[in-house]
Amino acid sequence: MIILAIESSCDETSIAIIEDGKLLSNVVSSQIKTHQLFGGVMPEVASRLHAENVLFVLDEALRKANVTLEQVDAYAFTRGPGLVGALHIGMQVAKTLAMLFNKPLIPVHHLAAHIYANEFVGELKFPLLSVVVSGGNTELVLMEKPLDFKIIGETSDDAVGECFDKVARTLGLPYPGGVIIDKLAKEGKDTYHLPFPHADGEFNFSYSGLKTAIINLVHNEKQKGNEIRTADLCRSFENVAIKMIVDRTIRASEKYAVKQIVLAGGVSANSYLREEILRLFKDRNIEIIIPPLWCTGDNAAMIAKLAEHLYKDGLTCNLLISADPNWQIDCFRDF
Ligand code: KG4
Repeated sequence: MIILAIESSCDETSIAIIEDGKLLSNVVSSQIKTHQLFGGVMPEVASRLHAENVLFVLDEALRKANVTLEQVDAYAFTRGPGLVGALHIGMQVAKTLAMLFNKPLIPVHHLAAHIYANEFVGELKFPLLSVVVSGGNTELVLMEKPLDFKIIGETSDDAVGECFDKVARTLGLPYPGGVIIDKLAKEGKDTYHLPFPHADGEFNFSYSGLKTAIINLVHNEKQKGNEIRTADLCRSFENVAIKMIVDRTIRASEKYAVKQIVLAGGVSANSYLREEILRLFKDRNIEIIIPPLWCTGDNAAMIAKLAEHLYKDGLTCNLLISADPNWQIDCFRDF
């Protein structure tokens, strides 16, 4: 069974080919350099670049996998969540190929795929708690069994990755901010006193207050003519931002007596988050799965991995399907 999967939800055009669990190719074309010029992802530019790049990526993915389109048994694509114009490009390519070769089409939920990317590292064991942290989402997802997603906590405003990016921008650091803040924080000390955000709900998150506190702090210091100790501010910010994730993860893991904690999404690349999760769960008898760095960011390998499960469950669709930029993970069967 050979599946060709396409990911185009944000600023990476990616195509992967998988055969019975074995990843044959995973080509990722990143648009980051272009979006850096704007200080963040420009949706219209993202769509255009997907349209320009997708056929080159397809060609390379087939060549690397040594597979022809005639050999592909099903086509998978990211249906949502993501930027609507960007999603449409990948979806249209998948639809065209499925129509041309008369093969099934598999709509894949982007965040569920981030979780299933961990199958490249180890077997998922249920009940598990997934910490889904990215540029667009911050969610705690409980999985009591395979393909069963329940959101038990989510952000009430900004996503954590978005907060990293905006704080970086305030400090004059390049996009995407998470990578550079992670690096600078290692050189800094926790000397700035930042408020610990409050969020309603047992396991919910809030990042906009923390972001605003930093914007105000930087503004006030500049007005007073004081220099910002950038590395220290990165350290202080990261401590609060990551503590919020870790605190809720510990409490939720206790409440739901989970067997595994699984990190997912772009922010799961954060070295402090990884260290803290490993340190604080060391004596808790809960297995931790951390995705390898190559699949923390957006890629089609994770779409292909989840698509295999969806196909076995009969979750294919017809050509009338549309993209859903706000698709909720607990509704991943609704299309
Ligand atoms: O999952 P992803 O590639 O995009 C979405 O689908 O949203 O995540 C991108 C986000 C960006 O906000 C970026 O700043 C953040 O992940 N990120 C990090 C790190 N690497 C990437 N945040 C914190 N620490 C990192 N090392």
